[in-house]
Amino acid sequence: MEFWKVLEERRSIREFDTERAVDPELIDRLLEAAILAPTAGDRQPWHFVVTSNPEVKEKIVANALRQTFIASAPVMIVVCGEPERSGARWGQMMADLHTIQDTSAAIENILLAATSMGLAACWVSALREDELRQALNLPENLRPLAIVPIGYAAKRPGARPPRRPIKDVTTFIK
Ligand SMILES: Cc1cc2nc3c(=O)[nH]c(=O)nc-3n(C[C@H](O)[C@H](O)[C@H](O)COP(=O)(O)O)c2cc1C
Repeated sequence: MEFWKVLEERRSIREFDTERAVDPELIDRLLEAAILAPTAGDRQPWHFVVTSNPEVKEKIVANALRQTFIASAPVMIVVCGEPERSGARWGQMMADLHTIQDTSAAIENILLAATSMGLAACWVSALREDELRQALNLPENLRPLAIVPIGYAAKRPGARPPRRPIKDVTTFIK
Protein backbone atom coordinates (compact mmCIF):
# COMPACT_ATOMS: atom_id res chain seq x y z
CA MET A 1 0.00 0.00 0.00
CA GLU A 2 1.27 3.45 -0.87
CA PHE A 3 2.73 5.33 2.13
CA TRP A 4 0.23 8.21 2.28
CA LYS A 5 -2.64 5.78 1.85
CA VAL A 6 -1.33 3.82 4.86
CA LEU A 7 -1.25 7.01 6.94
CA GLU A 8 -4.78 7.88 5.93
CA GLU A 9 -6.18 4.37 6.30
CA ARG A 10 -4.79 3.72 9.77
CA ARG A 11 -7.52 3.92 12.36
CA SER A 12 -8.01 2.70 15.90
CA ILE A 13 -10.07 -0.45 15.44
CA ARG A 14 -12.08 -1.62 18.44
CA GLU A 15 -14.13 -4.47 16.94
CA PHE A 16 -12.29 -7.51 15.67
CA ASP A 17 -13.50 -10.49 13.65
CA THR A 18 -13.31 -13.29 16.23
CA GLU A 19 -13.58 -15.95 13.51
CA ARG A 20 -10.50 -14.84 11.59
CA ALA A 21 -7.07 -15.82 12.88
CA VAL A 22 -3.90 -13.94 11.99
CA ASP A 23 -1.14 -15.80 10.17
CA PRO A 24 1.92 -15.93 12.51
CA GLU A 25 4.09 -14.76 9.61
CA LEU A 26 2.18 -11.48 9.60
CA ILE A 27 2.87 -11.06 13.31
CA ASP A 28 6.57 -11.62 12.56
CA ARG A 29 6.36 -8.82 9.98
CA LEU A 30 4.80 -6.51 12.56
CA LEU A 31 7.66 -7.21 14.95
CA GLU A 32 10.17 -6.55 12.17
CA ALA A 33 8.46 -3.21 11.59
CA ALA A 34 8.57 -2.46 15.31
CA ILE A 35 12.30 -2.96 15.66
CA LEU A 36 13.03 -0.79 12.62
CA ALA A 37 11.95 2.23 14.66
CA PRO A 38 14.64 4.70 15.70
CA THR A 39 15.75 4.75 19.36
CA ALA A 40 17.69 7.24 21.41
CA GLY A 41 21.35 6.29 21.34
CA ASP A 42 20.31 3.14 19.49
CA ARG A 43 19.57 1.55 22.89
CA GLN A 44 16.49 -0.38 21.64
CA PRO A 45 14.96 -0.51 25.12
CA TRP A 46 11.98 -2.66 24.25
CA HIS A 47 10.51 -6.10 24.65
CA PHE A 48 7.39 -7.47 23.01
CA VAL A 49 5.08 -10.03 24.60
CA VAL A 50 2.98 -11.70 21.91
CA THR A 51 0.10 -14.00 22.70
CA SER A 52 -2.96 -15.62 21.25
CA ASN A 53 -3.39 -17.81 24.33
CA PRO A 54 -6.95 -17.28 25.66
CA GLU A 55 -5.91 -17.47 29.33
CA VAL A 56 -3.09 -14.98 28.87
CA LYS A 57 -5.34 -12.68 26.85
CA GLU A 58 -7.87 -12.78 29.68
CA LYS A 59 -5.20 -11.61 32.11
CA ILE A 60 -4.31 -8.76 29.78
CA VAL A 61 -7.96 -7.72 29.40
CA ALA A 62 -8.35 -7.80 33.18
CA ASN A 63 -5.67 -5.13 33.47
CA ALA A 64 -6.80 -2.95 30.58
CA LEU A 65 -9.06 -0.71 32.64
CA ARG A 66 -12.42 -2.09 31.47
CA GLN A 67 -11.48 -1.97 27.81
CA THR A 68 -13.07 -5.31 27.12
CA PHE A 69 -13.13 -4.69 23.37
CA ILE A 70 -9.56 -5.94 23.15
CA ALA A 71 -10.79 -9.44 24.09
CA SER A 72 -12.10 -9.92 20.56
CA ALA A 73 -8.62 -9.58 19.04
CA PRO A 74 -7.03 -12.92 18.08
CA VAL A 75 -3.54 -11.67 18.95
CA MET A 76 -2.23 -9.17 21.48
CA ILE A 77 1.18 -7.55 21.59
CA VAL A 78 2.17 -6.02 24.92
CA VAL A 79 4.88 -3.47 24.23
CA CYS A 80 7.26 -3.17 27.16
CA GLY A 81 10.00 -0.67 27.83
CA GLU A 82 13.28 -1.30 29.63
CA PRO A 83 14.39 2.06 31.07
CA GLU A 84 17.59 0.62 32.52
CA ARG A 85 18.76 -0.16 29.02
CA SER A 86 18.35 3.51 28.11
CA GLY A 87 19.69 4.64 31.45
CA ALA A 88 22.97 2.81 30.93
CA ARG A 89 23.86 5.54 28.48
CA TRP A 90 21.71 8.54 29.39
CA GLY A 91 21.15 8.39 33.11
CA GLN A 92 17.79 7.88 34.76
CA MET A 93 16.37 11.31 34.01
CA MET A 94 16.43 10.75 30.26
CA ALA A 95 15.84 7.01 30.49
CA ASP A 96 12.11 7.18 31.18
CA LEU A 97 11.52 9.80 28.50
CA HIS A 98 13.56 7.94 25.90
CA THR A 99 12.02 4.60 26.72
CA ILE A 100 8.52 5.97 26.25
CA GLN A 101 9.46 7.72 23.01
CA ASP A 102 11.33 4.68 21.66
CA THR A 103 8.49 2.27 22.39
CA SER A 104 5.98 4.77 20.99
CA ALA A 105 7.92 4.84 17.71
CA ALA A 106 7.81 1.03 17.66
CA ILE A 107 4.07 1.03 18.34
CA GLU A 108 3.37 3.45 15.50
CA ASN A 109 5.44 1.26 13.17
CA ILE A 110 3.32 -1.73 14.22
CA LEU A 111 0.10 0.18 13.54
CA LEU A 112 1.24 1.38 10.13
CA ALA A 113 2.59 -2.01 9.13
CA ALA A 114 -0.66 -3.64 10.24
CA THR A 115 -2.66 -1.18 8.13
CA SER A 116 -0.47 -1.83 5.10
CA MET A 117 -1.17 -5.57 5.43
CA GLY A 118 -4.93 -5.19 5.85
CA LEU A 119 -4.80 -5.91 9.57
CA ALA A 120 -6.59 -3.94 12.26
CA ALA A 121 -5.10 -2.72 15.53
CA CYS A 122 -5.43 -0.19 18.30
CA TRP A 123 -2.92 1.55 20.57
CA VAL A 124 -4.13 0.90 24.11
CA SER A 125 -2.20 2.41 26.96
CA ALA A 126 -4.88 2.74 29.60
CA LEU A 127 -3.62 -0.16 31.70
CA ARG A 128 -2.55 -1.09 35.20
CA GLU A 129 1.18 -1.34 34.75
CA ASP A 130 2.25 -3.14 37.93
CA GLU A 131 -0.66 -5.58 37.86
CA LEU A 132 -0.09 -6.38 34.19
CA ARG A 133 3.61 -6.96 34.81
CA GLN A 134 2.78 -9.43 37.56
CA ALA A 135 0.03 -11.14 35.57
CA LEU A 136 2.48 -11.79 32.72
CA ASN A 137 5.33 -12.78 35.06
CA LEU A 138 7.52 -10.08 33.60
CA PRO A 139 10.73 -9.10 35.37
CA GLU A 140 10.85 -5.88 37.38
CA ASN A 141 12.99 -4.14 34.76
CA LEU A 142 10.24 -4.26 32.14
CA ARG A 143 7.44 -1.70 32.03
CA PRO A 144 4.37 -2.85 30.08
CA LEU A 145 3.50 0.45 28.40
CA ALA A 146 0.90 -0.46 25.80
CA ILE A 147 -1.31 -3.25 24.58
CA VAL A 148 -1.80 -3.58 20.83
CA PRO A 149 -4.70 -5.90 19.95
CA ILE A 150 -4.29 -7.24 16.40
CA GLY A 151 -6.78 -8.89 14.09
CA TYR A 152 -9.12 -8.16 11.22
CA ALA A 153 -11.71 -5.44 11.59
CA ALA A 154 -15.26 -6.63 12.19
CA LYS A 155 -16.40 -3.10 11.57
CA ARG A 156 -14.66 0.02 10.33
CA PRO A 157 -15.06 2.96 12.68
CA GLY A 158 -17.01 6.06 11.67
CA ALA A 159 -15.43 9.21 10.32
CA ARG A 160 -11.98 10.01 11.58
CA PRO A 161 -12.03 12.43 14.50
CA PRO A 162 -11.10 15.77 12.93
CA ARG A 163 -7.51 16.79 13.50
CA ARG A 164 -6.74 20.20 14.92
CA PRO A 165 -5.73 22.36 11.95
CA ILE A 166 -2.02 22.63 11.25
CA LYS A 167 -2.19 26.40 11.58
CA ASP A 168 -3.46 26.01 15.17
CA VAL A 169 -0.77 23.56 16.24
CA THR A 170 2.24 24.97 14.45
CA THR A 171 4.47 27.97 14.88
CA PHE A 172 6.62 28.83 11.91
CA ILE A 173 9.53 30.98 13.01
CA LYS A 174 11.19 32.92 10.19
C1 LIG B 1 -0.65 7.09 23.54
C2 LIG B 1 -2.00 6.59 23.08
C3 LIG B 1 -2.79 5.90 23.96
C4 LIG B 1 -4.04 5.41 23.55
N1 LIG B 1 -4.75 4.65 24.44
C5 LIG B 1 -5.95 4.16 24.05
C6 LIG B 1 -6.67 3.34 24.94
O1 LIG B 1 -6.25 3.04 26.05
N2 LIG B 1 -7.85 2.85 24.50
C7 LIG B 1 -8.35 3.13 23.25
O2 LIG B 1 -9.42 2.64 22.92
N3 LIG B 1 -7.67 3.91 22.38
C8 LIG B 1 -6.48 4.43 22.75
N4 LIG B 1 -5.76 5.19 21.87
C9 LIG B 1 -6.28 5.47 20.52
C10 LIG B 1 -6.85 6.90 20.41
O3 LIG B 1 -8.06 6.99 21.11
C11 LIG B 1 -7.04 7.23 18.92
O4 LIG B 1 -5.78 7.19 18.27
C12 LIG B 1 -7.67 8.59 18.68
O5 LIG B 1 -8.98 8.63 19.19
C13 LIG B 1 -7.71 8.96 17.20
O6 LIG B 1 -8.41 7.97 16.44
P1 LIG B 1 -7.69 7.18 15.23
O7 LIG B 1 -6.55 6.38 15.83
O8 LIG B 1 -8.77 6.29 14.65
O9 LIG B 1 -7.20 8.17 14.23
C14 LIG B 1 -4.52 5.67 22.24
C15 LIG B 1 -3.69 6.37 21.36
C16 LIG B 1 -2.45 6.81 21.76
C17 LIG B 1 -1.55 7.52 20.76
